[in-house]
Amino acid sequence: MKKIAIILAAGKGSRMKQNTPKQYICVEGTPIILYTLKTFQESIVDEIILVVGEGEVAYCEQELQIPQKYSKVTQIIVGGKERYDSVYNALSMIKDKQCYVMIHDGARPLVSQEIISKSFAEVATNNSVVVGVPVKDTIKEVEADMYIGKTIPREQLWQIQTPQTFFYILLKEAYEKMMEQKDNTITDDAMVMEKYGVTKTKIIEGDYKNIKITTPEDLIIFQAYLQMQHNDSIL
Ligand code: CTP
Ligand code: MG
Repeated sequence: MKKIAIILAAGKGSRMKQNTPKQYICVEGTPIILYTLKTFQESIVDEIILVVGEGEVAYCEQELQIPQKYSKVTQIIVGGKERYDSVYNALSMIKDKQCYVMIHDGARPLVSQEIISKSFAEVATNNSVVVGVPVKDTIKEVEADMYIGKTIPREQLWQIQTPQTFFYILLKEAYEKMMEQKDNTITDDAMVMEKYGVTKTKIIEGDYKNIKITTPEDLIIFQAYLQMQHNDSIL
């Protein structure tokens, strides 16, 4: 079955506090989004739909030369106000319904081939698969007055990342229901499956390295990982 990746890059990056949306910030001379695209270009996916912000399509085509450099990018489309609007726009562009769709945050440039391959291997039997890592810190529920309510047992807590991979029809149906309800509580695709889907979602162990670049210190962490990869390739 065809494997389609949706790469999300339509956010504003407000927590990064820079004028440029974070996916276009250059690290070691290369915009973050291009690291992500390179990994997907070299992966087992057949096609990539890139979702960008209003007015950014020309920048991606002409300045970043994405269609020329990454042949698997077949469409560059405009996203929506919320992350789930951007995903929905991309899902609506897919005509071939018998496919697997992998949704990935463009702001996670350290995704690996191993994670992508493992996700596709798993979706063949489970239809709905996300990567995550066990939570390392103690997590507490805090009340409105800033007193601790309770501690959530850590053994049950996983931090969810992307990619998130689905049998297309099941995710699209769940998204249709969610949009119909005008549900604005959605923060990831697995949550759409939880609330509106017909199948449970399997978690497979990802990698702590697969960070989402969100705040300024994440740029330093990303740079450190790049340096590490560079050193590894020299040794
Ligand atoms: N995203 C998107 N469309 C939106 C919002 C987010 O495609 N309307 C994408 C972002 O570009 C990012 C991913 O979804 O790759 C994860 O979102 P997040 O880390 O929240 O990015 P931003 O929304 O850009 O950042 P912030 O929330 O700090 O504004
Ligand atoms: Mg956001």
